Amino acid sequence: MSASPDTSPQPRRFIPAGPLTGSIRVPGDKSISHRSLMLGALAVGETRVTGLLEGEDVLATAAAMRAMGATITREQDGTWSIFGVGVGGLLQPAEPLDMGNSGTSTRLLMGLVASHAITATFVGDASLSRRPMGRVIDPLSLIGAEFEASEGGTLPLTLRGISPAVPITYRLPVASAQVKSAVLLAGLNTAGITTVIEPVPTRDHSERMLRGFGAELTVEEVDGADGPERIITLTGEAELKPQTIEVPGDPSSAAFFVVAALLVPGSDLLVENVGLNPTRAGLFEVLRQMGGSIEEVNAREVGGEPVADLRVRHSQLTGIEVDPAIAPAMIDEFPILFVAAALAKGTTTTSGLDELRVKESDRLTAMAQALTGAGASVEEREDGLVIHGTGGARLRGSANSRARTHLDHRIAMSMAVAGLASDDGVLVDDVRPIATSFPNFIALMEGAAAG
Ligand code: S3P
Repeated sequence: MSASPDTSPQPRRFIPAGPLTGSIRVPGDKSISHRSLMLGALAVGETRVTGLLEGEDVLATAAAMRAMGATITREQDGTWSIFGVGVGGLLQPAEPLDMGNSGTSTRLLMGLVASHAITATFVGDASLSRRPMGRVIDPLSLIGAEFEASEGGTLPLTLRGISPAVPITYRLPVASAQVKSAVLLAGLNTAGITTVIEPVPTRDHSERMLRGFGAELTVEEVDGADGPERIITLTGEAELKPQTIEVPGDPSSAAFFVVAALLVPGSDLLVENVGLNPTRAGLFEVLRQMGGSIEEVNAREVGGEPVADLRVRHSQLTGIEVDPAIAPAMIDEFPILFVAAALAKGTTTTSGLDELRVKESDRLTAMAQALTGAGASVEEREDGLVIHGTGGARLRGSANSRARTHLDHRIAMSMAVAGLASDDGVLVDDVRPIATSFPNFIALMEGAAAG
């Protein structure tokens, strides 16, 4: 299920290839896939999901929901069927829940377990076991759940849930959709009104989908001290009705192909069915500000989310100062933006990105090192990178440098794209982590470059 620790790293050199042309479809959205499985597992009756991302992270969520009583099967045509246990009906898992590399599985499931009278132990790989869980332990302790965590509030961690739990009003101290979602999911089985105050808007898939499943949820925008804030309320105990869900393509996966097509001369690529929820689409906006030709065609709605096909043509990019206010809407896309910046004309400055240090890896240091090795000019600051681009010239790194991915899929894929825009290619030290979010990435990349 998770990248097995006993298999050895798989290095691979990504070399320059022909222009990216034709049309491709990226796999389903990871955030929406996790939530489909979780809410389906809490509804009474059958939820059917098409387009589910079948990456290791999402499969970790599926395994955990099965371990807590849901019946989840994949049919031959790729449709997933979920028979839920009902809100309040989760069973105590017999074994520790193996979260693999997945922070989203861990934090959201901690929310679900916290308001059930069950005990669960969460374990994960080396990357996940370094990531901070205090940010969910804090609010979930307020509802009455108890925790035994490893040093520094990390995994392995045992959670003793409580029912009835106490409904809370919680103001998010960090801009995090995972923390917001953990509190809301805990609120499902908590009688009364659970409130989350969000000073900075983050991805709102949980809110959209909770409503879709019939939960009583309100969102109000009010003036806060530092600008507009969102106040989200959820009334428990909720009853969820099973749904039919079509998962749109993941903009975070599309991002690698969009940047690859912008960087490789002669490219003209159609990336179909890309989710463009405004809380996710920041990268495309920034790339357009840099001069990227990204056209939205066939705009429509899929599964309650805005979707379009993106036509991307090779463009000379120009460096900009990226407004830190847009960071939450592209929080997973900075590694690939850094690659785009490395080929742009002039300097790109980013700031306000402290959160990048606690993702699957420290993405500021990891990308600064990997891009420098690949021949880019990068300054690492406490909260961002400053990148002096080549003006379109291919990257030329030292022959024996290797991009270290630190078990981080997005570092691996970003440096693969850097390889396409280099003279001699980029050696990525381990491509296994790519399977957590984008199992067919390499095949799709080879296909697009072959025309
Ligand atoms: C996610 C939220 C983000 C993002 C992650 C997925 C989600 O994390 O980085 O890949 O599905 O809610 P944070 O909440 O830690 O910002």
